[in-house]
Amino acid sequence: MTLNIILLGPPGAGKGTQARRLVEERGLVQLSTGDMLREARSSGTEMGKVVAEVMDKGQLVTDEIVIGLIREKLESSDAPGFIFDGFPRTLAQADALGELLGDMGQKVDAVIEMQVDDEALVRRITGRYTCGNCGEVYHDETRPTAKDGVCDVCGSTDLRRRADDNEDSLKTRLLEYYKKTSPLIGYYYAKGELHRIDGLAAVDEVAAELSAVLARL
Ligand code: AP5
Repeated sequence: MTLNIILLGPPGAGKGTQARRLVEERGLVQLSTGDMLREARSSGTEMGKVVAEVMDKGQLVTDEIVIGLIREKLESSDAPGFIFDGFPRTLAQADALGELLGDMGQKVDAVIEMQVDDEALVRRITGRYTCGNCGEVYHDETRPTAKDGVCDVCGSTDLRRRADDNEDSLKTRLLEYYKKTSPLIGYYYAKGELHRIDGLAAVDEVAAELSAVLARL
């Protein structure tokens, strides 16, 4: 049986952190459009350059590009299910995802809205750094590496901060979220697929709440 989950929430809600845990615990595949787009930008192609400019400003990349990336991943995978992290972000993307999964004989099984307050997001985003090698996510205050400058998981010293993790880009990212992505909460509620969890709790508590929701499906 397949399991397809969408993690929905503003920048810094903890989608990536929880998605990585679900990959470990349930063998699902994480599809983060943010990671895919960061890969595209580092490729140096024309598309990558366009994407980089849009992302650094904190705006949304076009539906066409993002849906194309997701289509490619879905069509080339035989995974038992997917965790959609940062996708869909617009109503057009949500409709497209429904169709793509439908063509595969699958559906969205649950949409988890991670609820957080906006002030916490600024602290989370400005303190975040990630491992450039394995993608592990850290935070200056709440989750620093055990050894300064070295990833706990893979031992890499390539720890990075994202170009869009500053207060100016975050303002635009939040505006984009409230204008274009938050309508998805009502959309999935109306479809009977929405679940809400407290994203402000500690990482382990959020993970436990998420597991409890999935156990009830
Ligand atoms: P993307 O990479 O998706 O970024 P985002 O949605 O802004 O989300 P973040 O990755 O910033 O946050 P998160 O919720 O994953 O939080 P995390 O777990 O890291 O998108 C980037 C850009 O790409 C967009 O702005 C847009 O331009 C483009 N894009 C991407 N998808 C698109 C799409 N579908 N359509 C169009 N454009 C698209 O946690 C944050 C920090 O908090 C970490 O430091 C972490 O350690 C800490 N933390 C996490 N959980 C907790 C907790 N429970 N308690 C304390 N600290 C915590």
